[in-house]
Amino acid sequence: MKKIALLTGGGDCAGLNAAIRAVVRAATAHQISVFGIEEGFYGLITGKTRRLTIENTDDLLSVGGTVLGGSRIHPLQIKGGLERSLQFFKKQRFEALISVGGEGTLNIASAFSKKGMPVVCIPKTIDNDTWGTDFTIGFQTAVEIATEAIDRLQTTAESHHRIMIVEVMGRHAGWIAAYSGIAGGAHAILIPENIFLMKDLLNILKERAKRNKKFSIFVVSEDARVRLEDGSVLKTPVHHDEYGDIKLGGIGELLARELRKCTQSDVRVTVLGHVQRGGAPNAYDRIMATRLGVFAVDLVLKKRFGVMAVLKGNELKTIPITKAAGKLKTVDLNTQKMSRLFFG
Ligand code: F6P
Repeated sequence: MKKIALLTGGGDCAGLNAAIRAVVRAATAHQISVFGIEEGFYGLITGKTRRLTIENTDDLLSVGGTVLGGSRIHPLQIKGGLERSLQFFKKQRFEALISVGGEGTLNIASAFSKKGMPVVCIPKTIDNDTWGTDFTIGFQTAVEIATEAIDRLQTTAESHHRIMIVEVMGRHAGWIAAYSGIAGGAHAILIPENIFLMKDLLNILKERAKRNKKFSIFVVSEDARVRLEDGSVLKTPVHHDEYGDIKLGGIGELLARELRKCTQSDVRVTVLGHVQRGGAPNAYDRIMATRLGVFAVDLVLKKRFGVMAVLKGNELKTIPITKAAGKLKTVDLNTQKMSRLFFG
């Protein structure tokens, strides 16, 4: 019987378990056994694997997170990590690796692929910033969570005549902010793709006041920037965690402070944080994860390695891993333009 390995890398999101279940179902139908690598690519060094079967993955469709776990440590950070991982992979006689991940995972997969490992990638991240695919697993669920939060904040903002700032995740791309802001009818959406002017935000508040709107909702992406009247730029101070990864967050509170100074309004901040990554995937993510999982196994059967399975329109396609690695998909100009139409 053939054997393949499956891992989920980087931060978790809703829909990873649905992808795991789909890979196992599709592979089993072709008499291929699947071994889950625990803790992402780090599991290739530690040799932590576990047999995945229809029985132990069948109930995963609606379960959030990843049963395989994740780790911030990966083989490229460890001396000899790449070689040790390749040796383990060979020794286990795996015929392919299916790697479900975002930007960071794709870079690692690309390094392995260049060393000859037969890899197929599946894109996931709530940030939706993976280059070459229209959507990533986890994004639509995160948008739904953020939209519900905005809806709820609208009513309480209106009751108390407040400015509500909703800070959402997304790293260097504003997809979650743009989509949830449009869906939730936010009065301004601040994304990292542009620098916003404080004077424009104050104008929005003035115009709304003229229309007797005594409340406002501003959705702010964690890496958004605002130019103040004195020319200085407000942005999240960059922190790094113990693995050297950038930590973002805090722009909502910084903006609130400035708005309090410039207006007499009561300004409150809600930081959605990891709530956006947790819990059950929505129907869209369940279906997309299932489609991508089944498609990835098809690619393995056809020995189409070194590729990422992507969604283009409603079609599943492939792009070379090396083409997508190291690139960032930011919010397109049409979406930006359209969202601005509803500011105020
Ligand atoms: O990349 C996904 C993401 O959730 C980003 O939106 C966010 O900046 C980051 O991960 C948070 O990472 P951590 O789980 O390490 O706090």
